[in-house]
Amino acid sequence: VTDEEFTGNVKAQLAKLFGLSLKLTAPEEPDVEPLVAACTAKFGDYQCNNAMSLWAKIKGKRTQFRGPPAVGEAIKNNLPPSEMIESCSIAGPGFVNVVLSKNWMAKSIQKMLIDGIDSWAPKLSIKRAVVDFSSPNIAKEMHVGHLRSTIIGDSLARMLEFSKVEVLRRNHVGDWGTQFGMLIEFLFEKFPNYEDVNEKAIGDLQAFYKESKQRFDADPDFKERAQRAVVRLQGGEDRYRRAWAQICEISRNEFQRVYQRLGVHLEEKGESFYNPYIPGVLKALTEQGLVEESQGCQVIFIDGFNIPLIVVKSDGGYNYASTDMTAIWYRLNEERAEWIIYVTDVGQQQHFAMVFKAAQRAGWLPVVDRSYPKASHVGFGLVLGDDGKRFRTRSSEVVRLVDLLDEAKARSKKELIDRGKGQEWTEEDIEQTAEAVGYGAVKYADLKNNRLTNYTFNYDQMLNDKGNTAVYLLYAHARICSIIRKSGKDIEELKKTGTLVLDHVDERVLGLHLLQFAEVVEEACMNLLPNVLCEYLYNLSEKFSTFYQQCKVVGSEEETSRLLLCEATAVVMRKCFYLLGITPIYKI
Ligand code: ARG
Repeated sequence: VTDEEFTGNVKAQLAKLFGLSLKLTAPEEPDVEPLVAACTAKFGDYQCNNAMSLWAKIKGKRTQFRGPPAVGEAIKNNLPPSEMIESCSIAGPGFVNVVLSKNWMAKSIQKMLIDGIDSWAPKLSIKRAVVDFSSPNIAKEMHVGHLRSTIIGDSLARMLEFSKVEVLRRNHVGDWGTQFGMLIEFLFEKFPNYEDVNEKAIGDLQAFYKESKQRFDADPDFKERAQRAVVRLQGGEDRYRRAWAQICEISRNEFQRVYQRLGVHLEEKGESFYNPYIPGVLKALTEQGLVEESQGCQVIFIDGFNIPLIVVKSDGGYNYASTDMTAIWYRLNEERAEWIIYVTDVGQQQHFAMVFKAAQRAGWLPVVDRSYPKASHVGFGLVLGDDGKRFRTRSSEVVRLVDLLDEAKARSKKELIDRGKGQEWTEEDIEQTAEAVGYGAVKYADLKNNRLTNYTFNYDQMLNDKGNTAVYLLYAHARICSIIRKSGKDIEELKKTGTLVLDHVDERVLGLHLLQFAEVVEEACMNLLPNVLCEYLYNLSEKFSTFYQQCKVVGSEEETSRLLLCEATAVVMRKCFYLLGITPIYKI
């Protein structure tokens, strides 16, 4: 039996073995891809489903096979001997069911405990990706949609980074465009000494935006000045550039308060960054014959869409699409990103579909799906209030994100105080736990649903300590940590001297789930679906609790092994939290 070191992906590893077997079984069909999937527990752990389709290919030619079950039998017999596999059996029309070796499983988990969870990281075929997320607009409100983008984008970036992909975390802020003429002109009018203007003076930038918009709509004189201001700004006139930079800075500080609470890191490359590149990119596209004149605009026609992508407006100005065409060019050709991921509400789906098609026509992206480089739009649904309508505060203003996060923290803090932690813990412990739980709850409530569905924002639900919530999961993790602590054993020592075994059925079920961690991360990452990881995490805590009900840990004969299994569960849970952007807690 060959020694078979765990690579982090059971499914891929079995597929490799079955690939070898298929080559022996049907050498005349060298291109058959092994089909391996996890299966229902009563049949085994994994299943190879190649027999039927292979039978269909070879039945006329090969007389020694009398049907799919015989092909399955041959696939089974041709499997190279491996330490991974305990036994195989044939079911129905040739399914080959695999039972993994519990010794191999136990050994692989223990090895991870020693080498660290990063030894299980998925291995992807790309080296660099751009994740374009959060991306609020300067001076306009940063709303719950941007919160969703921030949370989902950060989680995707974390999964890619864990998989050793270099991620350019891009904040494509809306910091350019005609609204700035109005804002700058209003700034000059309100603060003749505008150089002294700071955040305090302007106060609320959203209110400032509203006020200037009212002025713009009401006064034709002002409107005209505002329009001239845009031209002067875009022409690079110093006074206008400085005023613009000042407005951006105030917005940036506001956004930063949200990112700081969420622990999200972003690198700003706003719309203005791409502005100088637009003429060159459009010139190249025009030379390729992609850009055409239509009703006074410059446009790109795209098959399958009844409207073209407008890249130069009739007044000669650039727009959202000109910037995005230039940004995708820059990311592919200058930054050499192999995968570009855009996280916005589903409302922008058509915009991105058109930009991607145009990039294909330009030859920047391959036309065939699935090969790299590629661009993906990660759309998400609306955030709803309890009334089923778009989430708003009572005054029907949009919600200030900082307030919303502060509220989540305040509620979880109150809960801790009500539980009497005020006597037990330091003030710092309380603050940190309240933050971890409060912000974690907001993130998890967002991530656990399929992102395309709308979700209802409800503090009581997300902060419930029962059910599929961050609170429940964080507490479950803390409980495992306390089991280990209370055992009084040195877990680092046990990792090296003890032996992990999976003899009890519930130990084995838990062990198998642990081994599937990286497989799930890879799936969540490749399909851009963080909810897949949430589901895995929730199932992990359920499997742990069954194990803990059925198997005595501290004081049992199997104590050492079971403490190691507790530790492995805690390690995997923490990595899940990390990938979801949630800070774990260690005590409750
Ligand atoms: N600023 C845009 C908005 O608030 C999102 C930008 C998304 N990224 C992009 N490259 N278009 O809707």
